[in-house]
Amino acid sequence: MDGIQFNRKAVAGEPAAENEPSAHLLAKQGDLEVMLYRITGESVVWLYPASDPDAIEYFFIHKGGVELAMDDGLQSLGPGESFTVSGLKQDVPVKMHGDTEILYVTNCPAYESLAHIDESLQELLTRINEKDHYTSRHSKAVLQYSLAIYDAMEDHGPDIPREDLAFAALFHDVGKCFVPVEILKKPERLEQAEFRYILRHPVDSGRMLQPKFGEQIAEIARNHHERLDGSGYPRGLREEDISLASQIVAVADSFDAMTSERGYNVVKTFLEAAQELVSLPLQYDSRITNVLMHLVSSGALEEGGAIGT
Ligand SMILES: [Fe+2]
Ligand SMILES: [Fe+2]
Repeated sequence: MDGIQFNRKAVAGEPAAENEPSAHLLAKQGDLEVMLYRITGESVVWLYPASDPDAIEYFFIHKGGVELAMDDGLQSLGPGESFTVSGLKQDVPVKMHGDTEILYVTNCPAYESLAHIDESLQELLTRINEKDHYTSRHSKAVLQYSLAIYDAMEDHGPDIPREDLAFAALFHDVGKCFVPVEILKKPERLEQAEFRYILRHPVDSGRMLQPKFGEQIAEIARNHHERLDGSGYPRGLREEDISLASQIVAVADSFDAMTSERGYNVVKTFLEAAQELVSLPLQYDSRITNVLMHLVSSGALEEGGAIGT
């Protein structure tokens, strides 16, 4: 299910263990999935706009109740009532009242990500490493570059603690654990159906980070492929809707992609990559790319530096 997420956010004061959600796959045919989603205790999940225009989700409240915070007020639904999500344009919080059971039907596979939502992120990074060594090394590189930029920006940097940026940078691609390995490693250009998996990975990263780290960190991961001019994905957000912290991770992410060997790309030197990023001010924030250029030209970021393999 591209673009619409089931992010659980525990209400403050509730022990997390008491409201762990669980998803049970009842039926599956191709991309169509029917699940029973159970949440114990009060929690909030989020619906997000889909990046796939054909995406549709159906929610039938079997037990308990939900409250959707819509533009024009709250909509409460109880047992026997349902709602459908398709073509959503903005995030919508959904509050679960007490023990809630929802029959959830979607035409974009979501079960695997729901089933693994509570797996530790470190385990997920390890799993990604086994599946795709590039992503694991890349995560550490993006962490290093993001922090170098953050430190160099000093007072002009984002209003976010350094550790929070570090978490977001290190885990920005954890959503890739749901991308089939043959797609992750495919050297040729991806088919449209295959690219749908790539399109959803920032959304899955955000979904996985939000319950543990909160919305600010999840937003950074969710938006690391967005570009200032709206040309990015999954949502084509524009400048005013993309935080400075997301843009730092976006620059660090592109910089590493341009300067590392992935089997099919032309590897650029640090200087070439920094120059190219500086030359794209409509897509990448110039405050950030200029800082990156300074870090590279001053030798503070060196090729073959501290990134482990
Ligand atoms: Fe990514
Ligand atoms: Fe990345």
